[in-house]
Amino acid sequence: MIEDKYKELETERLMLRKITDIDAKMLYQNIFNNFDWYKFYYQVPFKSLGEYQDLVSKYKEWYLNGNHFRWGIVEKNSNEMIGAIHLHSKDTLNNNCKIGYIISYRYNKQGYAKEAVEKILDFAFQELKFHRVEADIVVENIDSIHLAESLDMQFESIKHDGYKLEDKYYDEKVYTMIR
Ligand SMILES: CC(C)(COP(=O)(O)OP(=O)(O)OC[C@H]1O[C@@H](n2cnc3c(N)ncnc32)[C@H](O)[C@@H]1OP(=O)(O)O)[C@@H](O)C(=O)NCCC(=O)NCCS
Repeated sequence: MIEDKYKELETERLMLRKITDIDAKMLYQNIFNNFDWYKFYYQVPFKSLGEYQDLVSKYKEWYLNGNHFRWGIVEKNSNEMIGAIHLHSKDTLNNNCKIGYIISYRYNKQGYAKEAVEKILDFAFQELKFHRVEADIVVENIDSIHLAESLDMQFESIKHDGYKLEDKYYDEKVYTMIR
């Protein structure tokens, strides 16, 4: 059961916790009102807060089905939700999953993303006992590639045309961590 394994986590400056319906407004204000910022994270441009709230309302079900772990990244000082991070595409037979992450454009370049991703990778290996975690990153997404490399994730391959955005396909770099 996911509820047994799902944990609220803490780092020096952050709390990582479930995203609820009431967090949607803050995440929309901090991130999802700016498609140019999140276009390499999620392909759908939200035209309104309501559209984004519809997505967040589905998280409850995802939390329960056990295949998807998603945390909101909360800055302790301000109690503001400044980002999100998730483990997805769980492959039980091969004991691996993928990781996705986003930080608000108001809070980037302050080490928050690295602090959160480091904690979740640790959780994925130590608590969830995954053997391999993968990040698929659009080649143009320099900041995300920098983050993966700074965490010592290994560049493995290029996934040609792995990401479709509007009418264009983008190559992705596959980064992995294996424990
Ligand atoms: C990808 C993304 C999460 C990277 O976030 P970021 O804000 O650049 O990451 P961080 O702040 O953790 O780290 C970047 C740099 O900030 C700098 N930094 C500034 N102040 C810092 C501080 N107080 N502590 C640590 N690092 C600091 C460092 O130079 C650090 O680089 P380093 O690790 O080489 O030292 C962010 O660009 C984003 O959300 N993009 C949009 C969504 C997206 O594309 N997600 C990924 C999809 S694959």
